[in-house]
Amino acid sequence: MPPKHNQAASTTTAAVAGKKAPTTTMTSTTKRLFLFASTLIPMLAFLSFQIPSFVTTDVVCSWTETFFSDAALDETKSKYAEVANAAIVGTQLYNRTMHWGTYRPNVLMGVKNRAPHPLLFGIAWYDAAGRFDVKHNAVESDRLMFRWEFHDGQFFGVQRIVDYENRIEFMIDFVKAPDGQGWDVQATARRIGGSNTPITFVVYFAHEGGAQKFPLQSISGSTQHKAAANDDERYLRSGSGDVVGVAGAIEPPLAATTPTEAALPLIPFVATLTDSCQAFAANATMPWTEFAFSKPQDDAWNFEMRRTPGRVVADRSQHHKTNANNVMVFKKEFTSDFRIQVCLRELPSTTTRSSSGTLLETDATTPQPSLLSSPVLPACQLTRLVNFHKASFEAKFDKLFLSHIVSGRPASSSQSYSPDVTKRLEYLQKHSKALKQMASSALSSLIGSIGYWHGKYLVVPEEVDEASDKRGQFVTSSSAQRGGQIDSETTFSISLFSGAPSRAKFPRGFLWDEGFQQLLMYRWNSEVSKDVIAHWLMVAMDPATGWIPREQILGKESRGRVPREFAAQHPQHANPPSMVVAVQSLALSEHKTADDIAFLQRILPKLTAWRDWFHKTQCGSSPNCHNSRRVFPTSSSSNDAQQVNTSEFQYRWRSRNGFHLLACGLDDYPRPVCFADGRPSNSGGATVSTGNGVQQTTTHRKEKHVDLMSWMALMTETIESIKSAAIVSSNEEQSEKPKSRASIPWEELLVKLHWDAKSNRFSDVTGCPEVSSKETGKSENEGEKKKLPNFRGYSGHFSPYVGYVNLFPLLSLTINDKKLALSVLRLARDELNTPFGLASISLHSRSLLAQYGQQHESYWAGPIWININYLFLRALKLKYIELLGSEAEEFYHTLRSELLENILKQYIATDKLWENYHWESGKGLGTAPFTGWTALIVLILGEQY
Ligand SMILES: *[C@@H]1O[C@H](CO)[C@@H](O)[C@H](O)[C@H]1NC(C)=O
Ligand SMILES: *[C@@H]1O[C@H](CO)[C@@H](O)[C@H](O)[C@H]1NC(C)=O
Ligand SMILES: *[C@@H]1O[C@H](CO)[C@@H](O)[C@H](O)[C@H]1NC(C)=O
Repeated sequence: MPPKHNQAASTTTAAVAGKKAPTTTMTSTTKRLFLFASTLIPMLAFLSFQIPSFVTTDVVCSWTETFFSDAALDETKSKYAEVANAAIVGTQLYNRTMHWGTYRPNVLMGVKNRAPHPLLFGIAWYDAAGRFDVKHNAVESDRLMFRWEFHDGQFFGVQRIVDYENRIEFMIDFVKAPDGQGWDVQATARRIGGSNTPITFVVYFAHEGGAQKFPLQSISGSTQHKAAANDDERYLRSGSGDVVGVAGAIEPPLAATTPTEAALPLIPFVATLTDSCQAFAANATMPWTEFAFSKPQDDAWNFEMRRTPGRVVADRSQHHKTNANNVMVFKKEFTSDFRIQVCLRELPSTTTRSSSGTLLETDATTPQPSLLSSPVLPACQLTRLVNFHKASFEAKFDKLFLSHIVSGRPASSSQSYSPDVTKRLEYLQKHSKALKQMASSALSSLIGSIGYWHGKYLVVPEEVDEASDKRGQFVTSSSAQRGGQIDSETTFSISLFSGAPSRAKFPRGFLWDEGFQQLLMYRWNSEVSKDVIAHWLMVAMDPATGWIPREQILGKESRGRVPREFAAQHPQHANPPSMVVAVQSLALSEHKTADDIAFLQRILPKLTAWRDWFHKTQCGSSPNCHNSRRVFPTSSSSNDAQQVNTSEFQYRWRSRNGFHLLACGLDDYPRPVCFADGRPSNSGGATVSTGNGVQQTTTHRKEKHVDLMSWMALMTETIESIKSAAIVSSNEEQSEKPKSRASIPWEELLVKLHWDAKSNRFSDVTGCPEVSSKETGKSENEGEKKKLPNFRGYSGHFSPYVGYVNLFPLLSLTINDKKLALSVLRLARDELNTPFGLASISLHSRSLLAQYGQQHESYWAGPIWININYLFLRALKLKYIELLGSEAEEFYHTLRSELLENILKQYIATDKLWENYHWESGKGLGTAPFTGWTALIVLILGEQY
């Protein structure tokens, strides 16, 4: 006899099949055969005893899948395709399908709904002996591996988690109903190497909205309430191995038609929990232990799982005595392999339910829109749905990213590969299975890191920013230490839907990262991608100024996990508008639909406001230009380079903090600190401590940054291309492209301001006073140093460093001149290229760092970063191979094969993608797993630019 819950499952199968599809192909004879088999297999399992019951269930499932079709299942499958096609961002249907998701990237496995006050679901586990930490948060550790093996961002995901400390491996399936009104999570745990140490597994539900408005109720029929030792909480113990769970209500997805969220009716739901482990093992029918308590609705949701003797509770510090509870925790100990299934179903609001045993009492007359309307999805159907989604994922993935041959000459190429490239491609070919696995889990993990947050963020007062800018250094970002100037909260709440670069280290939205992540996302699912872009541009932007904060640390839970100096946002600091690259790709795409064009039109005013904010606040013509009323000049007034007032188009990233410039995204990338005499200079410079007691003066307020000017060019060009995309769509008949309009001559401006003719490269302008006529170079400054002992610093007009910023005029596709483009290409190839990709600065520049006393952490001063490498390959493929010919094409293949080979090698060695890679060894550096922009390797593999 199978354990009780399996029986329940089979009964439900029959019920569902009967109700949904009277013409099911299961005749009574085959059913009898089937039931015989389902009984026989557990009997065999009983004989061998060690086999967990879900293994036999799976065997029976795959038999039935082979021999019987399931009409209800087929109907559900076709519904997925139907919904996927119709769920266009902005529609009610889209909002419905995206309502639930794995939107808690900070935990190992969590689900929540997109609402200001979401319901949180999560799991945790720990060893009964207490030797290791509770496993709950996604943390960086050698002893913990977690990654999404599949995730389509819309309907399903499969995550693998290996806990090497407790020697247990989880495969976690997540499937949503096609209409988004329910979901199932199935976690299958296997012990590694026959380990049988007791593991306590925890499942919890918690409603952030507080217990008064959103009470959760226990729905286990046979529950006996016991007075708890501590009467702060109710201690419940279910009396049998029956299905247990919770019932409650959630906020609905936001709707366009409802003026306020408060006016929307709440949606009732039930969630159930079932489990199975070793058949007939003594503990197989042990009840779940259940705790319930109340957490007040405020911002302090520090939802940490802790182990206290005999039970796990979540942050008990703020309990309130109340009859209503909004946190429910279930736990159970397992000594063998086991499987847990959690099913959540939204109910029609007419459904009545009693406080106990109500699982199947949904209103029978309401139409059942999908298979997942059944209270518990039978194990077989769940497995078959997951298999169906896996197959669809693989088909789509192969078509998008693997149709390109890894090896062999592309048809368009007129040359054969160099021996080096051929060798690298052979390596990839040899490890093509690992390559494919890496690529699909990179994409899946990127999608699986998408989260949803709601709340307010902190902003630093403008005067504080202004004072720091003058000094070139933050005194401290702690408001207390700034003499009581308080960081203020935004007056409005913000909802953010965004990916996170690393679930372990950076589980929240970052503006600079997100632009790159959307390059991948938009090719996978353009609707989800447009939703993310819209959240950043339309919701997160300060409507009064056009500023977008670089990091979204919304609510106190997020703030608690962020170092204080990064928690508050600076309304005068920018961050690279990489989102524009994704928008540009969409605008340039040949396959864009009318919906896409409408979307571009919708975000156009926001893009313009953002560009204008940059222009006003990040100006570099004079130290105080950001205080003047600067307006972005209209293109018509400035179409001739000779007539353009160059001081209108000089840009400087504000936020200089000693040797760091966080706003530019390249934190410690060397921007020279000037040679000076130790006194505050008269040019708004600042005193910078070099760490050995020496005070230096910078003249950073006269700096001009070539990367920022290139971003400005890219933003402006993208805005123009959206305008012309709209023109093209409105004159579909005209095959001719609209004549390129008079526009700002960015290329000429870059040459005028940033072309270092002596060194033959684009470069940062330092703003340094030129103390010597021999201004640049290596040893010329020796004489000056003698005059001023202890002093090091730089005095040239252009930066002496060679690295990523010198490439930006090419990365932004601004350069059209062949000679200029060629010199940038050669700079990259001859000075930055390593066998593993383009390094952030050249080897020679690394030696200059010491010479000029330039401090750094080898973060953006050496390592190889995939986002910039991707932009370089993109620039070659989109424009410069055509312009420069075989020299560019050769380097394209070299660079692409270097990146692919090394990232795969490191993945095979460590099982992880890394934040960046070492310039001499190729080894992974920084945070791992880092599945943000490092996942661009998928686009590099698929040659999608
Ligand atoms: C979908 O949700 C968004 C908020 O995420 C809301 O602004 C929009 O109005 C909703 N659309 C519809 C049709 O309800
Ligand atoms: C059942 O669980 C208890 C603790 O809950 C444990 O002491 C016992 O060893 C378990 N039995 C088996 C057969 O695993
Ligand atoms: C150029 O622009 C700057 C500031 O934007 C202004 O001060 C200056 O007068 C302008 N020069 C000319 C020649 O228009």
